[in-house]
Amino acid sequence: MSNKLWQGRFNGNVDPVTEQLNRSISFDQRLYPYDIRASIAHAAMLGKQGIISALESEAMVVGLQAILTDLDSGKLAIDLEVEDIHTFVEMELTRRIGEAGKKLHTGRSRNDQVATDLRLYLEVEIQTIEDLLFNLQQALEEKAEQAGDTLMPGYTHLQRAQPVTFGQHLMAYHAMLQRDRERLQDCSRRMMVCPLGAGALAGSSFPLDRNMVAEQLGFHGVMQNTLDAVSDRDHVLEFLGAASIVMMHLSRFCEELVLWCSQEFNFVALDAAYTTGSSMMPQKKNPDLAELIRGKTGRVYGSLLAALTLMKALPLAYNKDMQEDKEGLFDTVDTLKLCLQALASMIKTLTPNAARMTACVKEGYLNATELANYLVKKGVPFRDAYMITGQAVQQAIQQSLPLEALPLSFYTTLSPVFKEDLYTALQYSVATP
Ligand code: ARG
Repeated sequence: MSNKLWQGRFNGNVDPVTEQLNRSISFDQRLYPYDIRASIAHAAMLGKQGIISALESEAMVVGLQAILTDLDSGKLAIDLEVEDIHTFVEMELTRRIGEAGKKLHTGRSRNDQVATDLRLYLEVEIQTIEDLLFNLQQALEEKAEQAGDTLMPGYTHLQRAQPVTFGQHLMAYHAMLQRDRERLQDCSRRMMVCPLGAGALAGSSFPLDRNMVAEQLGFHGVMQNTLDAVSDRDHVLEFLGAASIVMMHLSRFCEELVLWCSQEFNFVALDAAYTTGSSMMPQKKNPDLAELIRGKTGRVYGSLLAALTLMKALPLAYNKDMQEDKEGLFDTVDTLKLCLQALASMIKTLTPNAARMTACVKEGYLNATELANYLVKKGVPFRDAYMITGQAVQQAIQQSLPLEALPLSFYTTLSPVFKEDLYTALQYSVATP
């Protein structure tokens, strides 16, 4: 028997290079649990609708369940010589149950099949990724609770700007991850409509019950337009977009970790488990994990760009180009899961250097804004208060002193409004406690 589902009109053999290029089983084999689940739902529906006999339907369902069990346990190996996972499952079913297996594809095409599989796969992976994002948020929250009150310099332009707390800084990432979770949930909700029943592109003349299949598979509805159902990959793009934003957030945090554990900053120490040494320089402790997460952001962006480019200008409906939607998607799912786990562990085990962070707050005139605000509270217009404070900073720089070390007699030469209580305003604290 041929190992293709489409040999009817063809004589002779396909060129080996054609076969190689056409074959997707090396990567789409990961869809087998979803492919089988969808086939079970389809087989049950064909039976219920009387399109095939109840016996045939039952044999298919039992046979498919056994294939799933055997693949899960490793008892059955996927044949990497066949074209794709859909072909493999159908052929294995026919090998096991005989003639009835050949009826599985009634009223169905691989076009609506693969579109369904991919949605089912992504639903599960999005849930896992969302859980990992939540776990990372918890790691941030715990660290913020432990060391949250530590004052640290807040930066703009990577120049010390105003005091913030280490907790505030960490919780900024918590807020980003919250939006990431919402974006993924949103993507999943929009994605969970069922393409099955759309056939190759034009539906089917069999009395399929699309709602029954959709319900059994956990979709919240069916895709109404059959051309759209087989050719839509918006969910892949939305997921890759959301994943790219997640990676952008992770890479910003990792960049800060790399900076913070440098001798120049020395704000945190990373646990040795997440660093490596140098093969030449014995003193080195490199933040490789943080660097790799930052680096892996590139491949996720690459997958988004590749998918957008893939879909651009494709005429309706299905085109084989779309087989290329999977590898970048799978790689992104794997990359994201790995990076989210690694970063959570890194955060849980890092040690903040509170003394150093607080010391840095006291160098660099981070209390200048509060001094200007002090004048404003006493009725000086902000722009004037800003100028007066600027002069004080200039004087302090010249004398290499902090603002709080300049005497009241100096301040009164700048403005008669200054009183002894200016030194209270100059105490380092965060503007928003
Ligand atoms: N492997 C194909 C894909 O991933 C499955 C659909 C094939 N459809 C077809 N008409 N050849 O897109």
